Amino acid sequence: MNAASRTKVSVFIATSLDGFIARPDGGIDWLMNAGEDAEDCGYKEFFDSVDALVMGRNSFEKVLEFDHWPYQEKPVVVLSKSLTEMPDNLRGLVKIDSSSPEELIEKLSLDGSKRIYLDGGNVIQSFLRAGLVDDITLTKIPVLIGQGRPLFGELQYDIKLQHLSTQSWDNGFVQSSYEVVGS
Ligand SMILES: NC(=O)c1ccc[n+]([C@@H]2O[C@H](COP(=O)([O-])OP(=O)(O)OC[C@H]3O[C@@H](n4cnc5c(N)ncnc54)[C@H](OP(=O)(O)O)[C@@H]3O)[C@@H](O)[C@H]2O)c1
Repeated sequence: MNAASRTKVSVFIATSLDGFIARPDGGIDWLMNAGEDAEDCGYKEFFDSVDALVMGRNSFEKVLEFDHWPYQEKPVVVLSKSLTEMPDNLRGLVKIDSSSPEELIEKLSLDGSKRIYLDGGNVIQSFLRAGLVDDITLTKIPVLIGQGRPLFGELQYDIKLQHLSTQSWDNGFVQSSYEVVGS
């Protein structure tokens, strides 16, 4: 499948200034606290532009702890080889899939998905390694948390990015958007 006809894969994510998406135990209190009086930072516009979400099991399990399901009626695919149960209220909205990144994108492309929102550190890393991430919007939160789950990980080769824009807000959030070169 050529790049022009396949589903576009977009990452829209926040990290601490030291590069973590979550604490070692998955905690995102530092992000939620920072976000209380925060700007939307383009999230709604981005969310409205995607046909579906694809996320890792760890991210899904964290979202289940929220007091409401944040993705409205948007289809969600949870990548997992271990998950079998789905809460009743999410049946029909959320599918569990154990495909590889390549197989999943092939299926989504054939189903007509134009753009997906990819979420979860491990999952993003595996899609990057597969050359299947098209763009990244990264919002840096002005806090150091010292340790945690990194957004980026090991690669077998360098991945070049084209910087598109950088924006900052009075609360100190700094957001940069990049296109992945050659995806
Ligand atoms: N800062 C932010 O903006 C932000 C955004 C999203 C998430 N988060 C936080 O980040 C944490 C989750 O990220 P994470 O890196 O721990 O995990 P993740 O990427 O959400 O989930 C990883 C899990 O997904 C499954 N999986 C299936 N296919 C995979 C593949 N191709 N590549 C990798 N994993 C695959 C595996 O579970 P199985 O063993 O079930 O197969 C794996 O353990 C949560 O705490 C969440 O709240 C933060």
